[in-house]
Amino acid sequence: MSNNTVLITGGAGFIGSNFIHHLKKTYPTYRIINVDKLTYASNLNNLLGVDEYPDYVFVKADIANKEAMENVFEQYNPDYVINFAAESHEDRSIEGPELFVKTNVYGTQILLECARTFWKEDKLASAKFLQISTDEVYGSLPLSSTDKFTEQSPLLPNNPYSASKAGADLLCKAYFNTYDFPVLITRSSNNFGPRQYPEKLIPLLINNALLGKGLPIYGDGLNVRDWLFVEDNCRAIDIVLHSGKPGEIYNIGADNEWNNIELVYLLCELLAEELGMERDWYKRFIVFVKDRPGHDKKYSLNFDKIQNELGWQPIFDFKESLKTTIQWHIGQYGKI
Ligand SMILES: NC(=O)c1ccc[n+]([C@@H]2O[C@H](COP(=O)([O-])OP(=O)(O)OC[C@H]3O[C@@H](n4cnc5c(N)ncnc54)[C@H](O)[C@@H]3O)[C@@H](O)[C@H]2O)c1
Repeated sequence: MSNNTVLITGGAGFIGSNFIHHLKKTYPTYRIINVDKLTYASNLNNLLGVDEYPDYVFVKADIANKEAMENVFEQYNPDYVINFAAESHEDRSIEGPELFVKTNVYGTQILLECARTFWKEDKLASAKFLQISTDEVYGSLPLSSTDKFTEQSPLLPNNPYSASKAGADLLCKAYFNTYDFPVLITRSSNNFGPRQYPEKLIPLLINNALLGKGLPIYGDGLNVRDWLFVEDNCRAIDIVLHSGKPGEIYNIGADNEWNNIELVYLLCELLAEELGMERDWYKRFIVFVKDRPGHDKKYSLNFDKIQNELGWQPIFDFKESLKTTIQWHIGQYGKI
C-alpha cells in the first residue's frame, strides 16, 4: 500500500466526513488533507478520531479562493482530489442561488485548474480528480414512469442547486475532453446516515422528533427518492477512485425507492421502537407543508455500470441503517 496523499474538500460535511473515516480505516497509510470552509452544514466533531492522526491535516479554506487552493496544491502535492465541497441544500439554493454558483461551479473550476497546473506529465498518469455529483442533474421523472436515468441521460436540472452541480459536471467533462485531464464523476442518489446536518428530510425528521417538534412533509408527500446509506456510497466512491476509468461517469443507487409519506411512517415507527413509545406515537406530529417550488417528483437511477464494470453493489440493510442513523442522532442530543 502506498502513501498516497488525498485532498478531500468538504470533509467536515456529511458525506465527506464519512468518507474520511472510511479512508482512514481502509487505507491507514494514506495522508489526508481536508479543505473545508466550515459553513453551517459542517461539523468538526464529525472528524473526532481521525483528527488525531499525524498524517491528517485540516485546512480551513474556500475552494473558490484561487490563491488558497494554489497554496494547498503547492504545500501538499496531492495524488488524488475528491471534491465533496458544495452548497448542498435545494431550499437554500432557491432562496439564494449565487453562493451555489460560486462554490459549486466556480470552486470546482478553481480546483480543476489547480490540479491541471500542478499535476505535471509524470503525475498525470496516476493522479485522479473525482467530482462528487448527484442524480439531481438528470432532472425529474413523472411518478408513473418506470424509466431510470443512465449515465447517458441528458442533464435537465430543475433547481439552482442541481443546475450548479450539472454546470460543474460539464466543466469536468470539458477538462477531460480538452486537456485529457484524469477526471471522474460519481452521481449518487439521496444519502442518509450519521453526521448529517438536520435540514434534509431524514435528519430533519429525526431531529424534530427528538425535540418534540412537528414532522414536515412537502406538498402531497408522494415524491419518490432512492435512499442510499452513506457507507455504501463511501464504498462506491473508494472503488471509483481506485478502479474507475478517467473520463467516465458512474451512477450510484440502491434500488430502494420510497415515497416521502411511506418513508416518514417507517421512520416514525423506528423512532417509537427506539425510544420505547407506542408504535404510532410520532405519526401525530406529521404536518403537510407548502411544496417546494419546482419540486422534482421522482429520481430513479440505473446503476448497472458500476455493478458490472467495478463490481460494487449496495450491501447495507435499509431499516438497520435507519436505526444506526437514529441512534447517532440520539447520541448527539440525548433521549427525550
Ligand atoms: N447528501 C446527499 O444526499 C447527496 C447526494 C448526492 C450527491 N451529493 C453531493 O455530495 C457532496 C457532499 O454532500 P453533503 O451532503 O456531504 O454536503 P454537506 O452540505 O453536508 O457538506 C458540504 C461541506 O462542504 C463545505 N463547503 C461548502 N462550501 C465550501 C467552499 N466554498 N469551500 C470549502 N468547503 C466548502 C461545508 O462546510 C461542508 O462541510 C456534495 O457535492 C453534494 O452535491 C450529496
